[in-house]
Amino acid sequence: MILVLNGPNLGRLGVREPDVYGAETFEDLATLCRDTGRKLGEHVEVRQTDDEAELIGWIHEACDGRIPVVLNPAAFTHYSYALRDAIAQRTAPLVEVHISNPAAREEFRHTSVVAGVATGTIAGFGLQSYVLALHAIAEMKTTS
Ligand code: DQA
Repeated sequence: MILVLNGPNLGRLGVREPDVYGAETFEDLATLCRDTGRKLGEHVEVRQTDDEAELIGWIHEACDGRIPVVLNPAAFTHYSYALRDAIAQRTAPLVEVHISNPAAREEFRHTSVVAGVATGTIAGFGLQSYVLALHAIAEMKTTS
């Protein structure tokens, strides 16, 4: 089981700034992640919330259940110390992902307060960022 967790505004993929985030919808993303999981022999559950407390609750659930996570924290990336503190408790790999490349965008996006407690970060490959992260987690499972 791998949890794919998404933060605020990602439910609006497809209509939200398509020049930055592409034309595919959140449902397309969820299907892509589940299909990738099937190929890797992993059950993938995809969730999205605009609520910081709910996202932190899901991280706690992953910590308690030793569940690996692919996380797009969206704007929380840049300022949520509460989310960072939750991720610091992780008991399994957690890969931070971004659809766009925040380092190539506005200054405020250059800081990730969660990167330092994630296993690693994949950014800038569109929805493929999630596919790469799922492969990385599957690979870590077979080598650890
Ligand atoms: C994002 C990048 C963030 O800066 C932004 O706030 C998002 C999406 C991405 O996937 O590219 O909401 O995490």
